[in-house]
Amino acid sequence: MKKQRIVIFDTTLRDGEQCPGASMNLREKLEVARQLARLKVDVIEAGFPITSQGDFEAVQQIAREIEGPTIAGLARCVPADIDRAGEAVKPAGKRGRIHVFLATSKIHREFKLGKAQAEIIRLAVEGVQRARQWVADVEFSPEDGSRTEPDFLIEVCQAVVDAGATTVNIPDTVGWAVPEEYGRLIGQLHAAVPQFQSGEAVISVHCHNDLGLAVANSLAAVKAGARQIECTVNGIGERAGNASLEELVMAMKTRSDHYRQFQCGVNAREIVRSSRLVSRMCGLLVQRNKAIVGENAFAHSSGIHQDGILKKRETYEIMDPKAVGWGKTELPLTKHSGRAAVAARLRHLGFKMTDADVGAIFSRFKEIGDKKKFVYDDDLTALVEGHITEVPETWSLEYFSVSSGNRTVPTATVRLRRAGIGRSDAEVVEDASIGDGPVDATLKAIDRLTNTRGRLTDYSIRAVSQGKDALGEVTLTADFGEKELVTGKGASTDVIEASARAYLNAVNRYVSARKEEKSKRKTPQP
Ligand code: KIV
Ligand code: ZN
Repeated sequence: MKKQRIVIFDTTLRDGEQCPGASMNLREKLEVARQLARLKVDVIEAGFPITSQGDFEAVQQIAREIEGPTIAGLARCVPADIDRAGEAVKPAGKRGRIHVFLATSKIHREFKLGKAQAEIIRLAVEGVQRARQWVADVEFSPEDGSRTEPDFLIEVCQAVVDAGATTVNIPDTVGWAVPEEYGRLIGQLHAAVPQFQSGEAVISVHCHNDLGLAVANSLAAVKAGARQIECTVNGIGERAGNASLEELVMAMKTRSDHYRQFQCGVNAREIVRSSRLVSRMCGLLVQRNKAIVGENAFAHSSGIHQDGILKKRETYEIMDPKAVGWGKTELPLTKHSGRAAVAARLRHLGFKMTDADVGAIFSRFKEIGDKKKFVYDDDLTALVEGHITEVPETWSLEYFSVSSGNRTVPTATVRLRRAGIGRSDAEVVEDASIGDGPVDATLKAIDRLTNTRGRLTDYSIRAVSQGKDALGEVTLTADFGEKELVTGKGASTDVIEASARAYLNAVNRYVSARKEEKSKRKTPQP
């Protein structure tokens, strides 16, 4: 039997990044895109180019650099959006895709758009036709598709396919669908539009997880005729997230008896690495019991289970953890390892670094190597991530000292360097503060020095690698009184230092965003 290919469309960098606090800078997005290419997804939705200059540049750069997958940019059915997306995906050549969307459900038509059905069809068709002037590969999404009247949805699908859409995606935008009903809807569309049967156009699904059914709905849709699934690494995305890539891929592979006629091209061995990278890059921790990629996904605590596993792994394990990339460890580096060894390990881990990057990471590696016996690959990855999440370092940590105890008022002294235009006008400033604990005192001292006042809305620390001397990685979210929360990350063997570094990372992001805003206000907008 000839297997049918299920196209894996990854939207971690677009829908995933819409998750509050998950925004990534250009370098972070590029690292994620490189990893998605290693994971061998078929399509990377790299962003929504009209939304900001940063999003446009990220899509363009990914289209220019990433080889292999198709690169998609999202656009509303508005000429300016479509042209911006077309410009952004242009460097990908034939691998460029424009994804246009327009809401079709009654509630969206009446309350959001104020448009009748005929007007929606006209705009959808015009949008697809305009996108086709840029690329041959055009996807159309009737937003809130799962709540759209089926007869109207069929009309929309037929019209956009006739206008040149090669993929029609049926989003369950608000996570309303249940598997039987969603599968039935996809089956109906498949039967009604001849191009879906002939393979000239593909049905895609895009399910949100508000009821925890995103993966189940996507799989039901595949059985009913869908040939593309949209998903994200770790299931991140708007609200409760999107269908999780790792769960979908492993469900199809592990239950190949049930999904016999389908195959996908994802390299499952890259799943754990992708999950960790995305988690660190966007600052969203993966819950311990998350299927496939959570720390506990293959941990067996009960004696009966452990005994069974030792006798025959399959008694309690339906997947081999190695098949998704768990348990791959290399010999750790030590403080005696030289720059060449560190550079080689970075290459082995898949990071594309310039000489200057390697130099910066090597000097942090040396600091850490002096404090801990072994530097594991996870430690090194945390250093790389710390380096690439750096924004212009207006403020950097020179020195800190804390005194704390159960009968002392926690006090911190912090010395910071403020970058100048040249090295000579950089200044070093020092101040002290008391606080509710050593971390609080340190962050308050940083606030005094940088003239900011951040309120932490989220703070977490986790050990990056094993052992008591493990690197601690702090991820925090701070509210500086602006519209958007700012995230910060920092790692060190000392948890106070990791906290100070993470907070400074957030302060630097905040300062550089304000500078950017100011310069935008000065520049006349087109
Ligand atoms: O959830 C949704 O409807 C979307 C569309 C833009 C595809 O993300
Ligand atoms: Zn979505």
